[in-house]
Amino acid sequence: MVVKNIAILFSGSGSNLQAILEQVHGKVFKGVRINVALLICNNPDAKGIKRAKKFGLDTVVIDHRDYPTREKFDQALVYEIKKHDIDLSVLAGFMRILTPVFTDNIKAINLHPSLLPLFKGANAIDESYNSDMKVGGVSIHWVSSELDAGEIIAQKSFPRKNRSKEQWERKIHKIEHKLLPKTIIKLLAKGK
Ligand code: GRF
Repeated sequence: MVVKNIAILFSGSGSNLQAILEQVHGKVFKGVRINVALLICNNPDAKGIKRAKKFGLDTVVIDHRDYPTREKFDQALVYEIKKHDIDLSVLAGFMRILTPVFTDNIKAINLHPSLLPLFKGANAIDESYNSDMKVGGVSIHWVSSELDAGEIIAQKSFPRKNRSKEQWERKIHKIEHKLLPKTIIKLLAKGK
């Protein structure tokens, strides 16, 4: 059996991490078993750490505040990922800007709560909601040295309707929780 290992990096709530653990971890797709082999979080108080524990998984905490520069922090991330036999790293709500120290060395995808290239950055949900757009959406893209600008792998849109801000946000997360696991499976079990 072919086994593919993924690393998940997160910073906060970890609802997407949970979706991956429920829908992907330890399961076989087209003869490929996908394992979550490494969890990294930059925030020792993140709720996601507790979520992972419920699945019997420990998280490696690499607190960015312990490093003098972004590059040094990224070096620590790369070191940890390279220690494991990781086929793909997944940024699932990982709220750090990465330097080429990371992006040149790690094959990674990122989840973003808007239809890229619109609304890059940390305020995508608010900015897309407050825009004139008749649709919102979610993107998954390859991580490159430019923030939220790597090649787009998957996107899903939804109509604005009369959604409140809370409903808009809930809809985004609902889509994320399906699109991210599906994309990981597609990338790793492709053609097998
Ligand atoms: C998601 O909306 C993701 O698109 C954004 O951060 C959020 C993370 O949510 N980058 P969670 O921690 O997975 O619940």
